[in-house]
This record gives sequence, C-alpha cells and structure tokens, in this order.
Amino acid sequence: MTNPITIKKKIEPFNKIIHVSGDKSLSIRWALMASQAKGKSRAYNILRSEDVVSTLNCLKKLGTKVKLKKKYCEIEGLGLNSFKDKKNLVLDAGNSGTLSRLIVGLLVHYKNKVKIIGDKSLSKRDFSRIIIPLKKFGAKFKYQNKFKLPLIVGGSKNLKSIKYYEKKGSAQCKSSVMLAALNTKGETYIKAKKSRDHTEILFKYLKIPILVKKKKTFDIIRIKGGYQFNGFNYHIPSDISSSAFFIVLTLLAKKSKLTIKNVNINPSRIGIVTILKKMGAKISFKNKKVINGEKVADILVKSTEKINPIKCPKNLNSQAIDEFLLIFLVAAKANGVSTFSDLSELNQKESPRLILGSKILNMMGIKTKLTNSSIKIYGKPDVKIKNIIKIKDYLKDHRIFMMSMVSALTVGGHWKLYDPDSIKTSFPSFLELINNLRN
Ligand code: S3P
Repeated sequence: MTNPITIKKKIEPFNKIIHVSGDKSLSIRWALMASQAKGKSRAYNILRSEDVVSTLNCLKKLGTKVKLKKKYCEIEGLGLNSFKDKKNLVLDAGNSGTLSRLIVGLLVHYKNKVKIIGDKSLSKRDFSRIIIPLKKFGAKFKYQNKFKLPLIVGGSKNLKSIKYYEKKGSAQCKSSVMLAALNTKGETYIKAKKSRDHTEILFKYLKIPILVKKKKTFDIIRIKGGYQFNGFNYHIPSDISSSAFFIVLTLLAKKSKLTIKNVNINPSRIGIVTILKKMGAKISFKNKKVINGEKVADILVKSTEKINPIKCPKNLNSQAIDEFLLIFLVAAKANGVSTFSDLSELNQKESPRLILGSKILNMMGIKTKLTNSSIKIYGKPDVKIKNIIKIKDYLKDHRIFMMSMVSALTVGGHWKLYDPDSIKTSFPSFLELINNLRN
C-alpha cells in the first residue's frame, strides 16, 4: 500500500495547455476488435493504464500476438473466432467492467471453458446484465454466486442470432451483445436505451454490416454476423472522462484558464459539458475534426465565479455516467439546491458512487438527500471545511480518488487521500498533470 496524499492548500490560478491520455473505452474496444481482424492493426496514443494492460494480457493468453511499443500498440489478429482453444484458461480482467463484459461477448463461441476473474471491486459487480442476453444466443455459463465473478463461459455449439432489448442504457451490455453478434451467423437485432456509441462507430468504420436507427430515447441496431475485416490503424483521442477532472478543477479554481488538446467529443459522451454549461460554466470546443469516425476537439475552459443549481434532465444521464461525482462537487458549490434522478446505475460502478459521492459531500459539510436512485444537493458557494477529511475504504475506485483530489484543491481544507495507486486503472498521469498545474 502506498502512503496517502495530504492536501492543505487550494490550487493557485493557472493558465495552461495540457494533453490528457488516450480514451479508455476506445483503447479497449480497439484491442478487442483488432484481435478479430485478419492481419496487423496498430493503435496510436493507446491508453497505458491497468485496464488496458489487462485487456492486452487477456488477448495474449487467448493466443493473440500483441506488441506494446513506445509509439504504438500492434495486434496481429487471426480473424473472427480465432482465439486459441486452451484447457483451464483463466483470464484476469482486473478492475475493468468494460473488458470483462465485452470480452465475454467474444468468447461465447469458445470451444473449451474459460474462467473470468477480477479484483475485489469487479467481483462485487453484476454480470446478469450480460449473461441473460448472451444465453439467448445459446452461450453456456457457470457461476457460483448470484451472477458475480468468477464466471465460466464456453463449450457451446450452434449459436443463433437474437432479438434483444437493452433497457439499462449500458454501453457495456450493448457492446457485449454486439461482439457476440459479430461472430454469430444471421442478423442480430438490438433495441437499446441510449448509451455511448463507440462500438457502433467502430463497426461502421470497419464496414461491418450494421444498421443503426437513432430514435429519441433508444436506438435500433441490426448486425449481420460473420463479416471478416482486415487489420486497421487507429488514432485514439484523449479521454473526455479523464479531461473532466481538469475541466472541473479549472471551473472551480480562481482566475484560471485551461486548454485540453484533442479530446474525444463524441455526442454520447459530452453530458458533462452540457450539464456544466447549464450551471453557468464557460466551456467551448475549438479545432473540431473527425478521426476514425470519432469527433475530436480542443476543450477550452475558464473559472466561473457563480454556479447555478440544476434540475438535471434524465436524458443526459448516460452521456455523463462516469462524471457524476464531479458534477455533484460542482452542485455542492452552486447557489441553491440541485437534483439528480434515475441514477441507480451509479451504484453499479467500480464503487457505489451515488452513495459514496453523497458521503464525501456530507464530510465537506454539504447537506444531501439520498435515495436508491436520486440525490438532492444543497449547494453552499462559500463552504469551509473544518475537520480533516480522510478518503479511504472506497474499493480503490479511481474516480473517487481523483474527484476527492479536485475537491481538496478547489474547496480547501485539510484532506488525506488514501490509495493514490487507484489512478493506474484509467489515468496514471493524473498526479503528474496536477503537479504541472500547481507549479
Ligand atoms: C463504458 C460504459 C459505461 C461506463 C464505463 C465504460 C464502456 O458503463 O461507466 O466506465 O466503455 O462501454 P455502462 O455501460 O455499464 O454504463
């Protein structure tokens, strides 16, 4: 265990340009898709974090050739359904919900049985959400505890395409089914509540037969299985979820300005920007372009003195699903009461984030009203912290650690942040970038 980090001082005004590391969702998806391609694929600016390393290690164990070089990552795929059949294979997904859910979609045709394990946090998470739809294809599973890891998949024959209605707005469930569909003959039909659409964009980019009809609250996706695509090169933009810590840091700091270069601004991911703008934030996108089908821009943000409370529209939830801890912090500094509803999914993340987010605000002296799926935050623009705040026992959730750091640097007071290693999951350069702004 590493020592906790102590913070006793707010951040001084800054005016900088930064580069944030590559997008996690895209890095994992690229690697999984490259494993199904025929030939070599290369990704530039791939995220070098534990979730991505777990992905590459799982693929290596399945017989895929992976080279991680200084400038790129190269994967040599042998085609659809080409994982090497091995006996007693165990794949460790570490902390990664995305890897564990998506790779199982690729493993439904695996001839032998393969066991998926994960860390303490991942082992508490729900897998019924992928097991139920994947069983409809004919996939076989074994698990001891109620739909929790360890999970055994494989050994099924004659899988058939399915019709499936995804109601949670989970991109991981949708993508798991899409990856199973990719390897299954026939047309799979998915009706999915809105969620991030990186897998759809990647399928289109690779010319995989996919039809997407976007409706107001859900999408209809049709995929024809069995299309073999070739190796492909891919440029991964910076992660908006990692950038979000710096957007909020700048917003809540005094007299500061920040430009974050080349960030993925996929419309299904920019809920944080839409919500913060409604609360009075000054944020803009510059140098917009499209790279490999994904929208990219520089994000410009300035400190804002006056923050308005918000009744957050539910239709923005899925677009900001990983950023609510930060949004709650902004609401804590708003001039009035904010409400957020229909957020039970937040308690299904690396830690129960709705509960822990509320707890952290309470430790700061902010009143909240919490239910299983909603939170009311009584904002206090001049909140002053009196006691030492210790952030520990949070299942090492990377986003809890980073949100606490942003709180400490903008609200002030005396903070002790335990388990700084948690950032390795998604954003290993986080502390280095923070220190760069503090100098
Ligand atoms: C992700 C989807 C989201 C998100 C996670 C990454 C993805 O989870 O919270 O960090 O890459 O598909 P859900 O799909 O379960 O909402």
